[in-house]
Amino acid sequence: MIKAVKGFKDILPDETPYWQFLEEKARKLLKSFGFREIRIPVLEKLELFDRGIGSTTDIVEKEMYTFKDKGGNLVAMRPEATASIARAYIENALHLKDPLGKYYFIGPMFRYERPQAGRLRQFNQINVEVFGTKSSSLDAEVMALLHNIADEVGISDGVTLEVNHIGCKKCRPIYRQILINYLNQNREALCEDCRKRLERNPLRALDCKRQNCRRVALSAPKLTDHLCDECRSYFEEVIEYLQIYQVPHVINPLIVRGLDYYTGVVFELTTTELGAQSAVAAGGRYDYLVEELGGPSVPGIGFAIGEERAVAMLKNRKKLTPPAPLFFFAVLGDAAKKKCIPIVLELRKRGVYTEMEHENRSLKSQMRKANRLKARYAVMVGEDELEKGRAVVRDMEKKEQFDIELSSEAFLKLAEEEVR
Ligand code: HAM
Repeated sequence: MIKAVKGFKDILPDETPYWQFLEEKARKLLKSFGFREIRIPVLEKLELFDRGIGSTTDIVEKEMYTFKDKGGNLVAMRPEATASIARAYIENALHLKDPLGKYYFIGPMFRYERPQAGRLRQFNQINVEVFGTKSSSLDAEVMALLHNIADEVGISDGVTLEVNHIGCKKCRPIYRQILINYLNQNREALCEDCRKRLERNPLRALDCKRQNCRRVALSAPKLTDHLCDECRSYFEEVIEYLQIYQVPHVINPLIVRGLDYYTGVVFELTTTELGAQSAVAAGGRYDYLVEELGGPSVPGIGFAIGEERAVAMLKNRKKLTPPAPLFFFAVLGDAAKKKCIPIVLELRKRGVYTEMEHENRSLKSQMRKANRLKARYAVMVGEDELEKGRAVVRDMEKKEQFDIELSSEAFLKLAEEEVR
């Protein structure tokens, strides 16, 4: 038997109602916040992620699915969507059309990570990006959207929005040096990875999950204490606007994010419900990404929700069952089947979920099937019914039986009464 590739998972029909629920709620809110859908390709030139995400990040260094295509081009399966959406924004000159570009994208990402609960090699994200404006109220609005999606989906009781500001091109290098000095003093306590990070990407050491590193991180000098005046007052404004938008949040100076394009405000929506994987969603500002990718100088901010993780939380709270048919047509004999098919077709065209037996089984076994599918009405049609032009209908809920005209109009009328 051929099994799926490690870290790649099927989402089975019993599970898809949760995904549809999450995506429907998100799409509805995204629309009311003025976001439009964009769809980006799975493959990009490797160089895009190298330049966009940063060549020293874990994603680019260790986790990308890269290969040479038959034309010898070095390509990568997107490990995230922000760089791709920025590429699409530049390539299609969207800044000319949309001075404030608000886009969203839902789809799979690919990272060669060690698979575990809540961590896959193909996983799905709901991505939200805004290009064109840098404003503290917009930053709060983007976080408000994330909070509102969590709320609408019904998982906001289990998450915390953690917010931080990681400085700008002026103040971050100064802090970086202060942090390097501090980490060097505590070098012995750091894990191998963090020692390596020390020179190249020291902020990532603040994010390390190992216990000793965490201890070092907790006592480290805080970036928020070393922000320049401009960044500090901007951050204060963001926090004030979060209150106005009624978004519960905490400030966590250890949120640094693992992608190099971030500047300024960053945030994570975390939970304690999913074991080692605490981030359900994450994002932040990326004011230089578009320019660094060869586009105009346009600021940006966004986030991505990890759908597997949001679905896991949703499942802990809500039971979604597959839809049940309103009618199950139990037909006895070919003549009955042929008479019922146009009726079944008409009901389906009108959006009424209807099932019909194809296998010419006994009435008893067809009724069992109607029961198993949790059909509301079992419709029985045999020779007698054909002669009279009427069908026997069993209300499976009330356990009552009656007969109605064997016509699509009669069944549609019954369906309408059911809706009422
Ligand atoms: P990220 O933090 O790499 O950010 O991923 C965002 C979310 O995707 C995570 O919080 C997590 O829920 C989910 N996720 C990440 N990796 C995995 C995995 N291997 N398995 C399951 N879920 C995973 C980004 O991707 C940025 N592009 C977000 C962003 C958008 N920033 C600005 N705009």
